[in-house]
Amino acid sequence: MSRETLVELNRRTVSHARAGTVPQAAEVAEVAASNYFDADRWEIEMDRVFRRTPLVLGFSSELREPNSYKAMEVAGMPVLIVRGADGELRAFVNTCSHRGAQLVEAGTGSTRRFTCPYHAWSYDTGGKLVGILDRDTFGEIDVDCHGLTSLPCAERSGIVFVTLRPGGTMDIDAHLCGYDAMLDHLGIADAWFVGSQTADGPNWKVAYDGYLDFYHLPILHKNTFGPDYANTAIYDAWGPHQRVTSPDQRMLAIGEIDESEWTDRHLTGGVWTIFPHVSIAGFDVRLDGVEGGGRMYMISTLYPGDTPDTSITYQNFLSTFEPTEEFTDAIAAQREFLLRVVVEEDYSTGKRIQKALKTGAKPSVMFGRNEAGGQRFHGWVDDIIAADDDEFAKLFANATTDFQP
Ligand code: FES
Ligand SMILES: [Fe+2]
Repeated sequence: MSRETLVELNRRTVSHARAGTVPQAAEVAEVAASNYFDADRWEIEMDRVFRRTPLVLGFSSELREPNSYKAMEVAGMPVLIVRGADGELRAFVNTCSHRGAQLVEAGTGSTRRFTCPYHAWSYDTGGKLVGILDRDTFGEIDVDCHGLTSLPCAERSGIVFVTLRPGGTMDIDAHLCGYDAMLDHLGIADAWFVGSQTADGPNWKVAYDGYLDFYHLPILHKNTFGPDYANTAIYDAWGPHQRVTSPDQRMLAIGEIDESEWTDRHLTGGVWTIFPHVSIAGFDVRLDGVEGGGRMYMISTLYPGDTPDTSITYQNFLSTFEPTEEFTDAIAAQREFLLRVVVEEDYSTGKRIQKALKTGAKPSVMFGRNEAGGQRFHGWVDDIIAADDDEFAKLFANATTDFQP
């Protein structure tokens, strides 16, 4: 079923490539410039978008083994994700029940016990409080009531989702609107995690707009990869999650191959985004005369910084082929290139946009009929911040797919 959908979408994109056409949104849309810098607006987004929506905080490949963990700070919250001894993935606030110390430094590792660096209370990988130093002198407490604070957590398509709301709930299937069946074809669940690097960016939406935007590719990226890309985009949506493809030369070439021979590689081109903060882009790593190599993904996860004007992006690299030693240099070179493009081209432009918008010179910015993806993204952010918790659940429960013709 998911293959049929992908075939149908490919067929549609190929026919646009042959005809030299591209679907358009109904009209040009405007977004208030203040949405990108106003402090009140930003606080509401933190509360209503980032503390309610399942966020991508990691990958199954980073946490394959029982007792492996990952600690990180996201939108001001210290988070600890742990694969329990039972194989189950759980997420917690990274804070000790005694007096709040953070249990683990940011990073990944493996342990059977988390021992607090302050007074050495300890917790097992299921979050249970299992050790109190000098228990006799500390006094009586109910250890069952003082485990780590849970956060809702789920894995789909090799991607780890966490909601930053202690005691909250997560309906991951409602949230994904069937998108995970498509993402499965990318092969992320079986991939190797080969590392990550970070880039400081402007307001999270200024930064994120760029990932949905093919219009700028040949222009802003004219000195790097831009000349190889068309500036046309087709947007397909599963609820708020959007895949972006282009009816370009690559699709013309795929059109020359018999449909029955289209592999996942032919069917999963373009950029796959996960609302509200993830972009997945693939590239090939191959070496002349060396066997192996293949598809590698850069999965960019964007998180708001400490202020409306800042964000941090993790560029996570996942390899669908075994990243043996021969490929080390080629992978490092790709990573270096992609960081340079994003820092020196996208985010350098984004930071200057941020300054310019704050002057108030322009009351709004525009998303054209050729930028349906940006229109949909901002529409969803607006709908989510206008929704109370009941309405929020309904937004996803009622969401449908929307493929451009
Ligand atoms: S704060 Fe963790 S043991 Fe005291
Ligand atoms: Fe870009």
